[in-house]
Amino acid sequence: MLKPKVIIAKKIPKDVEEYIAKYCDYAILSEKANYNTIIDKIHDAEGIIMPPIKVDENFLEHAPKLKIISNISVGYNNFDIDAMKKRNIIGTNTPEVLNNTVADLIMGLIIASARRIPELDGYVKDGNWKKGDDEIFFGKDVYKSSLGIIGMGRIGGYVAKRAKLGFDMDVYYYNRNRRHEIEDSFGVRYLELDSLLGTCEFVVLMTPLTDETYHLMDDDKFSKMKKEAIFINASRGKTVDENALIRALQNNKILAAGLDVYEQEPVDSNSPLLKMKNVITVPHIASSTEKTRNKMAMAAAQNLVQGLYGELPKDVVPE
Ligand code: DGY
Repeated sequence: MLKPKVIIAKKIPKDVEEYIAKYCDYAILSEKANYNTIIDKIHDAEGIIMPPIKVDENFLEHAPKLKIISNISVGYNNFDIDAMKKRNIIGTNTPEVLNNTVADLIMGLIIASARRIPELDGYVKDGNWKKGDDEIFFGKDVYKSSLGIIGMGRIGGYVAKRAKLGFDMDVYYYNRNRRHEIEDSFGVRYLELDSLLGTCEFVVLMTPLTDETYHLMDDDKFSKMKKEAIFINASRGKTVDENALIRALQNNKILAAGLDVYEQEPVDSNSPLLKMKNVITVPHIASSTEKTRNKMAMAAAQNLVQGLYGELPKDVVPE
């Protein structure tokens, strides 16, 4: 039997490639595959496995045989779901396998910004540390403080667990729907968004990017936060009006920010965010450990094969 043709548009581990090879006739695009290199090569493909690269009408017009697009990511805001549905193309993502890794990074950003770790690391390495320095190193306690999670999906639950059990924090959340099982298991409390912003010392944005969450955090929302609060974004950059965040930081409306994601990625090297000591930046790496990325690649490969062989893939989106 002829194997379906697929494109692999991201570097994947050997065992994942071997798995795909059993079921598919595949071509690997370079590690740096992008929108243009993909649409150049996708004419004959029935499936593609890729990072979350934009899928729009033009992309789909270049892919007349496509049946499934398998994202190696939990986010799938790159998909034009309506356009895909019109053509009966399935989209899949890779949830679950990255929950712990992303939650770890979020706790890392919380602690690093509260205790000013990158700033003080620079201070020591630049040879500025003098005997007697003390108050100038003061940070903010994480333990027993309050955390607000905006968007209580799967990963939010893992952050809540760490915050509650590991740091004895008061944890609140805001979500489209109440998550009673999370409230019951960790004693996490629900608050409306404005109350959460006015209550919490740490605010973590975790919501997926949709039409409703685009620029969810704007001037008005930042003005509702406490002056001593720290804002963390590990969702998608466009959930935040980045200029409003910059204004909030410049005008001391909030204390600090920890960012994994940006409105434009890679972030503009001239962005004022990169000049501020109280802003910690990392390059969209929340799920980026070798173990987790390998699991994501295998999950994406399994979704791809299931879709091509007439089964309902495990992780079809929207859920
Ligand atoms: C995800 O899985 O969505 C991560 O943010 C990487 O894109």
